[in-house]
Amino acid sequence: MSVNKCLSAQKLVVGQQAGSRVLSGGAFWLGRGPVGMDDTPDLRSLQSVMVKRENFKTCTQSGFCHRNRAYADTAASSSTWETPYNLDSSSIKFSNGQLTGTVLKTVSSTSEFVLLPLTITFLESGSARVTLDEKKRQTGEIELRHDSKAQKKRYDEAAKHVIVGDVSGSKGAALSRDTEDGSTRVHYGPAGAFEAIIKHSPFTVEFKRDGETHIVFNERGFLNMEHWRLEVKKEVKEGEEGENAAVAENVEDESTWWDEAFGGATDSKPKGPESVALDITFPGYEHVYGIPEHASSLSLKETRGGNGAYSDPYRLYNADVFEYELDNPMTLYGGIPLMQAHRKGSTVAVFWLNAAETWVDIVKSRSAVNKMSLGITGTTDTQTHWISESGILDVFVFLGPTPKDINQAYGELTGFTQMPQQFAIAYHQSRWNYVSGEDVMDVDRKFDKFKIPLDVMWLDIEYTHEKKYFTWDPLMFPDPKKMHDHVAARDRKMVVIIDPHIKNTDNYPIVEDLKSKDLATHNKDGKPYEGWCWPGSSHWVDCFNPKAIEWWKSLFKYDKFGYPNTYIWNDMNEPSVFNGPETTMPKDNLHHGNWEHRDVHNLNGLTFHNATYQALLSRAKGELKRPFVLTRAFFAGSQRTTAMWTGDNTAEWGHLAVSIPMVLNQGISGYPFAGADVGGFFGNPSKELQTRWYQAGAFYPFFRAHAHIDSRRREPYLAGEPYTGIMTQAIRLRYQLLPAWYTAFHEAATSGAPIVRPNFWAFPADEKGFDVDDQLYIGSTGLLAKPVVTEGAESVSIHLPDAEPYYDYFDYTTYRGPGSVTVPAPLDKIPLLMRGGHIIPRRDRPRRSSGLMKWDPFTLVVVLDSQGNAEGSLYLDDGESFEYQQGAYIHRRFSFDAQTKSLTSTDLASKGPKTAEWLKKMAGVRVEKVVVVNAPTEWREKESVRVSEEGAKESRRRREVGLSWHEGGSGKASWAVVRDPGVGIGKGWRIDFS
Ligand code: NOJ
Repeated sequence: MSVNKCLSAQKLVVGQQAGSRVLSGGAFWLGRGPVGMDDTPDLRSLQSVMVKRENFKTCTQSGFCHRNRAYADTAASSSTWETPYNLDSSSIKFSNGQLTGTVLKTVSSTSEFVLLPLTITFLESGSARVTLDEKKRQTGEIELRHDSKAQKKRYDEAAKHVIVGDVSGSKGAALSRDTEDGSTRVHYGPAGAFEAIIKHSPFTVEFKRDGETHIVFNERGFLNMEHWRLEVKKEVKEGEEGENAAVAENVEDESTWWDEAFGGATDSKPKGPESVALDITFPGYEHVYGIPEHASSLSLKETRGGNGAYSDPYRLYNADVFEYELDNPMTLYGGIPLMQAHRKGSTVAVFWLNAAETWVDIVKSRSAVNKMSLGITGTTDTQTHWISESGILDVFVFLGPTPKDINQAYGELTGFTQMPQQFAIAYHQSRWNYVSGEDVMDVDRKFDKFKIPLDVMWLDIEYTHEKKYFTWDPLMFPDPKKMHDHVAARDRKMVVIIDPHIKNTDNYPIVEDLKSKDLATHNKDGKPYEGWCWPGSSHWVDCFNPKAIEWWKSLFKYDKFGYPNTYIWNDMNEPSVFNGPETTMPKDNLHHGNWEHRDVHNLNGLTFHNATYQALLSRAKGELKRPFVLTRAFFAGSQRTTAMWTGDNTAEWGHLAVSIPMVLNQGISGYPFAGADVGGFFGNPSKELQTRWYQAGAFYPFFRAHAHIDSRRREPYLAGEPYTGIMTQAIRLRYQLLPAWYTAFHEAATSGAPIVRPNFWAFPADEKGFDVDDQLYIGSTGLLAKPVVTEGAESVSIHLPDAEPYYDYFDYTTYRGPGSVTVPAPLDKIPLLMRGGHIIPRRDRPRRSSGLMKWDPFTLVVVLDSQGNAEGSLYLDDGESFEYQQGAYIHRRFSFDAQTKSLTSTDLASKGPKTAEWLKKMAGVRVEKVVVVNAPTEWREKESVRVSEEGAKESRRRREVGLSWHEGGSGKASWAVVRDPGVGIGKGWRIDFS
């Protein structure tokens, strides 16, 4: 589509907003007939031409964001400013680790008090939780406008969807009062090392660890809870509408209190203004990370203008942003309101549990001197301002002190990522769309022909009959079972898309059910909400409704849809509504329990993908396979059930580059099973870009190629040599390292540690690496990848955080830090290093799918550090069922000891009822090779090593096996290979090199 055509389409949209012609955040349907005619949009005419920034609000266009920024500006600029929030000292109570009280907000115009019930809970885990509600809304003493049926309360159910950990108070927390400075102090946390100082007037809360202040609430006085009030109609003088009126009368700006228009839609706001905002300062911290999802750097930027800073806050309002821009704080498809602040020696974090539209401003204030006297060691403070449209204030505080502690505590609170099925971490092939069952089977065959490993074939929306989910296009997919069986022959799976919009049409039992059972999201008048998405007119299943979840589950039973190797992709669940405000639902829509969509928007996608997860769990009685669900929209807690990807990126180098910090950010934000469309969704990558993208994608936790319907076919075997061969090598490298990846997933599933880790996380004391976000460590394996993300590169510069030797993965070239080193990176080379001191488990036999590798032997790569030691681990289970929960797994620790010159395998597992059975099954799986990198020269003449193995037959218990030593030379480390030590992977053993 030419730009001119696009522009004329744009005019059409502006003129006929209600006519539903906007598709997916600014793509235009130039379909065959006028809207409203019984015609399905012609998706093939969708083009990726331009970003539609104007479809999305800036802070200035978002009433509550604008009001709170203005409030903050007044507070910050006036020397006489006093925050109107004071804690009523007489109201304070403390028991079982929880402080309760009432914060009084003084309303300046009437001098009346608004009562705001406060709780501060000091959790057993060492985290603290602060909530603030509004009495009048809580008790329903308010009136709603427009006869709205909405709940009167501020939304207080986010925790129900997000929190799985224990939030009861700690018995160990101890309160003391300080009458002199009018504050209450609570000591809590490990050995009482944490302290919260709650100042009454003005109300502030300061969090200390070991006497040092790390986090302060309301230090700048931006706390703002817009209390309920009656609408008073005012006479508006000409020229003094809106903001001008406020300026004229020197009162609050009411222009967006009662309704708010944007893009042709008006939000009726029956509850009036109800935003909640707070400033949170991290004294002495220069770097903050987190609050995904944004196409931006890992270390978050300042947002109030100036050199290199954004002018808008980071926004969290899950949305289908068409052709998103890079280096931008604009919202994207998902949001996690967790922010970590980091400096040498300390990491702390806050989790703002609010599911409404949220904006976060960041400002760094630098002072020449550090504030030692206040116990603050850094010279920069990061000041943040959190602004949500509605809901209660609910904030968790984590005092670290390490990034690992933060992820552990956050994971215990919101859940760890699940152990995935093995296939889910292998290679996925997708495009919009494989056009027929034959097409799918043909692609599957070609992967075999070209000897490229593949685990999953994906189907996008075109497999359905007229965009009706749970149906198959009868012409193009006449025999879905045959197709599924075909891919299953090599242990491959299918993932098919199921979206939350249900086509509003006749003779479609699913929509009839949805309506007759009243399971759809309602509009503000309580009728099933109708909007536009892929199928045209649609309704949306309301998964806040437990009955809708039960119904949804029933649709996935094998007798209704799918086969044992079918898994599910949930897309468009922000939700994306083509003709809705900002491409989503109106905020005054109503969900189950009459909660307004405004209150729960960012949770919407999570409730949907959780329902799908439940559905996959209950497809057949007794079938206990781990579900696989991919989601586009997400919130805190999504990590428990799903993988995510970064949505509709573009086949450009910049998009490849930004995928690295985006995936890293997901990891540190507790949602590590993440990836980006390999090759870029929109457009056609050059062969070089596509090849580099495969090399990068092999290091995403979720590794899937996907492409827009208008892009040219680009399965890796189509590129021709040398590209096909290089992409094949990248995919094979992923398969070779699957044991290391699976072990990294296990660490994430049990401790919350990211699967791919940024430098600051892996080396928290390396100050030079705090803003390094273009290289990634794979779990605790010591593997460090630096994907090439620029055109024509022949080398890359890698930041090494410490003085350990780092070895090239392929040829053992040795690099030493700390600092930057230059590593060759011609097209056929992935810059991948192994840090000295680690042992990496691999499986070296190329297979067609990961399922076929199940009984394959292992290789252990022992990478000696400067002292000659190394350590690593392996986690292994059946990669499919939940039997690991009953002990059906292997977890080994490998260590090479420089003193004894021996490599040992010891058990890290806890036994369960299924342990013995699993170990028996794995008895024949052995270590077939040990490679020692940086092998000592004295092994040069050595021809064998001694192997001893527990529980082996007498003849095998102690034996000699061959060793070969290889000279490195010209900057390369020497290495030694133990050929077929034959020790069991699940057994205890020792190999003596002395
Ligand atoms: C939008 C998704 O982001 C994209 O991956 C998918 O191909 C299209 N929807 C069509 O389903």
